[in-house]
Amino acid sequence: MRRGLHLGLLVCGAVVAALAGYWLWWALEGRPQEGRPAVGGPFELIDGDGRTVTERNFRGRHMLVYFGYTFCPDVCPTTLFNASQALDGIGPALALKVQLVFVSIDPERDTPGVVKDYAGHFHPGTVGLTGTPGQVAAAARAFRIYYRKADPDEDGGYLVDHSSILFLMDGDGRYVTHFTHEATADDMAAALKRLL
Ligand code: NI
Repeated sequence: MRRGLHLGLLVCGAVVAALAGYWLWWALEGRPQEGRPAVGGPFELIDGDGRTVTERNFRGRHMLVYFGYTFCPDVCPTTLFNASQALDGIGPALALKVQLVFVSIDPERDTPGVVKDYAGHFHPGTVGLTGTPGQVAAAARAFRIYYRKADPDEDGGYLVDHSSILFLMDGDGRYVTHFTHEATADDMAAALKRLL
């Protein structure tokens, strides 16, 4: 169990680092659109109360959106914790302009109730989203997110390899910038102060 978790951390870290580079190439060089990376777009997901939500529910506020899974041992909680610290750091007035959104890429285990509980561990108002496997796949595609379920262990537990990128989208749902899992809360707070 302990060894499995440790290996999982190593795998998760290596995959994340490799994918961050690949993602940058794809998004920034692959398909530019009006000078902006072609990231984001329409999506339909399910919130923590089982309601259908789309990108239109987030119009008018910036969205800090992160795709991950609640069983992730390290990268997801660390990134979301840093984003929460950054929102604390910029003060309540600016923080109101941003919605932190967590989207699960593990809908099998991350039911609406699970993502709702998970979102409750982070900045007040953080929204947790999940969906059918098809809804999640479509949303991940729109945001250029790679994910893949790893082989289950003997207890049926499994990790999900996934790219770890926190996107800042504007009030019209357009890409503004992104942060990798290596960005500190101070890095994010400085950028948010500049960009909001
Ligand atoms: Ni993760």
